[in-house]
Amino acid sequence: MAGRIPKDFIDDLVARADIVEVIDSRVRLKKAGRNHQACCPFHNEKTPSFTVSQDKQFYHCFGCGAHGNVISFLIEHDRLEFPEAVEELASFYSLEVPREKSSFNRPKVDKQQQQDDYQLMEQVARFFEHQLKSHEKSEAAINYLKKRGLSGEIVKHFGIGYAPPEWDSVLKKFGTSPATQQQLLDLKLITQSEKGKRFDFFRDRIMFPIRDKRGRIIGFGGRVLEQGEPKYLNSPETRIFHKGYELYGLYQAKQAHRTLDQVLIVEGYMDVVALGQFGIDFAVASLGTATTPDHIQLLFRSTKTIICCYDGDRAGKEAAWRALENALPYLKDGVEMKFLFLPDGEDPDTLVRQIGEQGFKDKLTDAMSLSKFMFQNLLKRHHVSSEEGKAAFGAEGQALIDKIQGEQQKLLLSEELDRFTGKDVYSNDLKRDVQKANQRSYAATSTNEAPTPANVSPVRLLIRLLLEFPKLASDCPEVNPVNFRTLQLPGLDLLIELHHYGLNNPNQNTGQILENFRAHPQIAQLSKLVMWEHHIEEQNLTSVYRDCFAKLIDKQLKGRIDELLAKSRIQKLSAGEKQELKLLMEQ
Ligand code: UTP
Ligand code: MN
Repeated sequence: MAGRIPKDFIDDLVARADIVEVIDSRVRLKKAGRNHQACCPFHNEKTPSFTVSQDKQFYHCFGCGAHGNVISFLIEHDRLEFPEAVEELASFYSLEVPREKSSFNRPKVDKQQQQDDYQLMEQVARFFEHQLKSHEKSEAAINYLKKRGLSGEIVKHFGIGYAPPEWDSVLKKFGTSPATQQQLLDLKLITQSEKGKRFDFFRDRIMFPIRDKRGRIIGFGGRVLEQGEPKYLNSPETRIFHKGYELYGLYQAKQAHRTLDQVLIVEGYMDVVALGQFGIDFAVASLGTATTPDHIQLLFRSTKTIICCYDGDRAGKEAAWRALENALPYLKDGVEMKFLFLPDGEDPDTLVRQIGEQGFKDKLTDAMSLSKFMFQNLLKRHHVSSEEGKAAFGAEGQALIDKIQGEQQKLLLSEELDRFTGKDVYSNDLKRDVQKANQRSYAATSTNEAPTPANVSPVRLLIRLLLEFPKLASDCPEVNPVNFRTLQLPGLDLLIELHHYGLNNPNQNTGQILENFRAHPQIAQLSKLVMWEHHIEEQNLTSVYRDCFAKLIDKQLKGRIDELLAKSRIQKLSAGEKQELKLLMEQ
């Protein structure tokens, strides 16, 4: 675990970033009045309702309600965790992200150990690469790679090497002290027999180094030359290698593409490498395991489209079905999973060699949609010609659909399911109408028919203005909400907080302010307010701001009058109170 990213750095970064520039690098934006627009990347639409405000450094979609500042955009669009989004934004502006030294970090030894582990893995990988060129028996390995049609270039690109046939090449070269021998054992680069004899784990094999997302070597896959068992030997789990989380080729794919439009999941190391050689440089392979939910989650952080490639046979279809089940919980609106089934007896390696890059890419374009695969599979198992069959089909289908995260996707699949079961389509039309109406009314209240400031409580309007113009706080010192602490006004605490914030940060834009309130319990309300357009002319800002405050004062005065009047009915007012009431009534 790296240390925390200092808050100041994030502040400066958001200040320096331009949301229009960043979003435009991912979604082509068009200028529309003061704002920029595009078709929303978070839901399907034909007319643009996705709006980016340069002034506010904030984006908002009237269609689906997606919104946030530049970091939120990267989190949602690039599917990143918060620190990753900060890293991404920093790299966009060629900045290095500093990390705080924190006592919560793992113990120092561990971190050091990890560093050493990666270093050793890297050295061993280089050793294998070197052996492929120089070992006296490497000719067989080279010939084998040639026979498989691999170019020298692609072998180098993936760092493919050769583990020599001797029992102790790695042991001898790297196990020069008891400590490093232990490390080799821990990293499973050597093994120890029951009698305590130590020897190399990989011998006489073609070596595929496995890198994590960040490019660090964490394990190896080793293939026998020609025939032999097991065909592939993989590094067992170690303290730095966790198979279920890692994908072979993901690092290289991410290196090749700034944004990955699609990722292809294949079965084998050889498939990834062969596809890469043919220019299909976005394939990854799970490491001899099925596609796990972690894999899917990991991939959807890097891409919007996952294409799973399987054998067309029964086993392939079964594996694809498991992948589908695993993917459902991660299917947000805006991402998709597709399936490519290969002709009998082919794998991507053999197929791409037959039909070439374009032929293979055409197949990718024609890949089967998730819904088609899902219904095809369900229809195979249930006969919808009978009522019982229909019911079973409907029940299983619905259970699957319920697992999906994205509302739009859910709706579309439910509709399709109902079409198969012949359910009244009317109810679906109704569902859709209701959803559309909700979206419309959402859009209406948030922009088109902006409520006049009169419809909004003064507290909310004050908050809204401070969110966009924090400088108002210092420009109008007479407006001080702290005076109303005693008043039971909804939102007053938030107003006091924002006012205070505005005093200290008069020059921040909305995006920066929201960044600082990211973890605030009322961040949702704040974002909602930002989305609401106030339509106040710039020259009227201060007067509207002051008016709002005046209304609060009125309210306070009225409240005090009522209080004093009520009191006077049950007890005699003091002379001071009487005087106060008189003054108040005169106002
Ligand atoms: P395949 O048998 O399809 O191998 O296994 P491949 O990748 O096409 O390799 P070639 O073309 O015969 O060289 C697919 C994947 O399953 C895992 C490996 O990750 C392999 O790439 N596997 C396979 C093993 O881990 N061990 C094995 O013995 C076989
Ligand atoms: Mn193969």
